[in-house]
Amino acid sequence: MRPVTIVGREIPEPLTTAPGDPERGRTLVVDRTRGLCLLCHAGPFPEERFPGNLGPDLSGVGDRLSPGALRLRLVDGRALNPDTIMPSYYRLQETVRIGAAWRDRPVLEAQAIEDIVAFLITLRDTPSERPVP
Ligand code: HEC
Repeated sequence: MRPVTIVGREIPEPLTTAPGDPERGRTLVVDRTRGLCLLCHAGPFPEERFPGNLGPDLSGVGDRLSPGALRLRLVDGRALNPDTIMPSYYRLQETVRIGAAWRDRPVLEAQAIEDIVAFLITLRDTPSERPVP
């Protein structure tokens, strides 16, 4: 585990030196066996059917939240909302509640967190800011 420093409601520093890859991030977000994001979130994923609605729609989230705020949300959303049902994806302690195979490691690797942050910041409401596919 890499050390993380929470500043206000953000983790301003990336967890890895290698920058996040938005394409890998998208793959993780829609992967129903890894991130499980779509269990609770809808978003601009037209190919994915039956998204959940327990959390906010991720469309435009890159306009609403900074990279540092997205990083904290993924690493440990309980720092933002102690009662959240969203899993803490890079918080070691929580892994004692899940299967033995996952003990002593976070749900997602540091690079996966950065990849997902890199993807989420591309989700804009303003069409002109959408990245060229
Ligand atoms: C078990 C349900 C659940 C899962 C799984 C889940 N989330 Fe969430 N998420 C939530 C809820 C509920 C919120 C609303 C805020 C809160 O609870 O504090 C939220 C909030 C968010 C926010 C802030 C959105 C905003 O507009 O403020 C982002 C970004 C986010 N989730 C991304 C993700 C990503 C990416 C994944 C997968 C890696 C994921 N979530 C998995 C339930 C979930």
